[in-house]
Amino acid sequence: MVNQHVDPTADWFWGNMTSSESLGRLEGKVAIITGGGGAMGGAQARLFAAEGAAVCVADNRLEPAKAVAKEIVDAGGRAIVIELDVRESAAWRDVVSQTERELGPVTVLCNNAGANFRVGFEEQTDEQFELIMDVGLNGAFFGIKAVVPSMRKAGSGVILNMGSLAAIRPGGGSPAYAAQKMAMVGLTRSAANSFAKDNIRCVIISPGHVDTPFIRGNTEHSPNSWETSIDNPENFNRRLSNTPLGRLQQPEDIANAFMFAATDDAAMITGSMITVDGGAGM
Ligand SMILES: NC(=O)c1ccc[n+]([C@@H]2O[C@H](COP(=O)([O-])OP(=O)(O)OC[C@H]3O[C@@H](n4cnc5c(N)ncnc54)[C@H](O)[C@@H]3O)[C@@H](O)[C@H]2O)c1
Repeated sequence: MVNQHVDPTADWFWGNMTSSESLGRLEGKVAIITGGGGAMGGAQARLFAAEGAAVCVADNRLEPAKAVAKEIVDAGGRAIVIELDVRESAAWRDVVSQTERELGPVTVLCNNAGANFRVGFEEQTDEQFELIMDVGLNGAFFGIKAVVPSMRKAGSGVILNMGSLAAIRPGGGSPAYAAQKMAMVGLTRSAANSFAKDNIRCVIISPGHVDTPFIRGNTEHSPNSWETSIDNPENFNRRLSNTPLGRLQQPEDIANAFMFAATDDAAMITGSMITVDGGAGM
């Protein structure tokens, strides 16, 4: 059932949801953003750069990552782009050294890269299970290990992990996605505990239903058919009616929370989950 108080034709529904004017809230920060060529990673990269951060846009799909970095540079910001498959531990070390060389010690890491195959327990293949875990979980672990020495050099750091409603109450769908996102809670707390002494915080941010190619498109890392895509009004309306605040989230809604968590306004927040889900996780 469609949420009755929603009017998708209203101006605010699809309107410009980028945050207000730049206040230089991330001035002096250096951020590596994985999945930076994607919808949410791209929104973070643009917002972080607009707020004064120098960003490394990292993705295994080079073209969309380049496009994000170009937009930033054209707007007067600082960005580099690096092709990175987050599953490659050794490649992570190169990404950190190149970022340090070109932008300075890393102070923020956003682990966005993710994959999903929307099939049930008995249908999910071993390869699909491994890929989802490798990209989302192992990739984040490798990233954290790679950036911590650089954050120590900088004297502080913030690691931001991408969660999901599946990190709160995984449903009966993709078992690997449920396991991967729940495991991110443990990884976040482990990192928060381990590196608090180094003035490094770690936070998990869990969006609800965000209108991105991840749930609308048919990408290699997140295939959708008519059965699963939000192009299908049945799927769109199911996700909408599951969202008390009455609209799906946009990538910018989530980027705003990532930015807050990266600033000193969040100086005492570590090991916790911030939900940005329109109430869907309640
Ligand atoms: N869209 C949603 O409703 C939703 C909700 C909650 C959480 N998430 C999570 O948000 C994250 C970002 O998704 P999005 O919605 O922006 O979708 P997206 O498909 O636009 O972005 C995902 C990005 O990850 C990159 N990626 C995939 N495998 C990679 C690898 N091996 N190495 C490096 N990069 C890789 C892709 O190239 C892509 O740019 C994912 O972790 C996803 O699980 C999405």
